[in-house]
Amino acid sequence: MPDGGTRTGSRYQLADKAVWRVGYGAMQLAGDGVFGPPRDRDEAIAVLRAAVDAGVDHIDTAEYYGPGVVNELIRDALHPYPGGLALVSKVAARRDDSGAVLPYDDPDQLRAGIHDNLKTLGVERLTAVNLRVMDNGAPDARFVDQLGALMTARDEGLIGGIGISNVSREHLMRALEITEIVCVQNFFNLAARQGTPILDECNARDIAFVPFCPLGHPRTQRDAILSNRVVTRVAAAHDASAPQVALAWLLAIAPNVLLIPGTRTRAHLAENLAAGDLWLDDREIARLNREFDWHMSFEPPAIKHDKD
Ligand SMILES: NC(=O)c1ccc[n+]([C@@H]2O[C@H](COP(=O)([O-])OP(=O)(O)OC[C@H]3O[C@@H](n4cnc5c(N)ncnc54)[C@H](OP(=O)(O)O)[C@@H]3O)[C@@H](O)[C@H]2O)c1
Repeated sequence: MPDGGTRTGSRYQLADKAVWRVGYGAMQLAGDGVFGPPRDRDEAIAVLRAAVDAGVDHIDTAEYYGPGVVNELIRDALHPYPGGLALVSKVAARRDDSGAVLPYDDPDQLRAGIHDNLKTLGVERLTAVNLRVMDNGAPDARFVDQLGALMTARDEGLIGGIGISNVSREHLMRALEITEIVCVQNFFNLAARQGTPILDECNARDIAFVPFCPLGHPRTQRDAILSNRVVTRVAAAHDASAPQVALAWLLAIAPNVLLIPGTRTRAHLAENLAAGDLWLDDREIARLNREFDWHMSFEPPAIKHDKD
């Protein structure tokens, strides 16, 4: 990655660490359905080491990926961790024996979730932890109590900063009345821009915005993005790939966007990291926006708690 200065290849502050704008999301490293052991453990370990070797200093994870599987892979591959590495996790869910994703989001459960992450990752402190809101409700008294659990953990030094995930702009504004928020992690990509108001709010306040499923979800949406004629034409003009264009578009639309694309392979990892060097001009951004405007007339696909 370039040494700062460009629009796409610069660093951005995430809690107490300045990280590269292209990081890595580790969710895909678990077995199918983000459940159980990886298909190829050696490759999973190799992907994590290759990411850090390439300069990645922001890795996103969760104890409920596996469960426990992804955090243990990260620890096995990377512990003792490089000093500048931001490990960011999320709490509020758990898995049952069948792999179902269940809420685990009472304040005491959130606290237990943070401790589980610290234990499986083998650290005393996480750079940030996201409160992954599990329902579509308004930011009510329960949301405030949940934030309280993360504030206590931050006061105790267990986490460097508090993030919120799967939230509306109203959640963000309510949270900011109570405490500092360092990142928002929401579903967002070329074909799913319903979260633009919260992205803009984060940008205005210098809060990192971390889009999940940056290449699209479900599979049909990802295929629609990656095979789109404007995406592939822009890619060809830069001798780049369609996924790189989808990622570079995200980097270009706002300086506070931090990417965590997920993959199980070193080949896709290298391709995704190289998106940090791809500069799309304003005309290309406008063409891509116009092309995907029609998607916005449809409802966004339901996200089923991190399961592909
Ligand atoms: N807060 C939340 O609720 C939440 C929800 C979902 C995800 N997340 C986080 O966000 C991260 C990213 O999301 P994600 O992994 O679901 O979605 P993603 O990054 O959009 O893409 C994942 C899928 O795209 C494929 N892919 C990746 N790079 C590719 C490339 N260069 N060319 C072709 N295909 C490629 C992967 O397959 P291969 O393995 O074959 O590359 C995988 O199937 C996750 O790892 C997780 O940390 C958070």
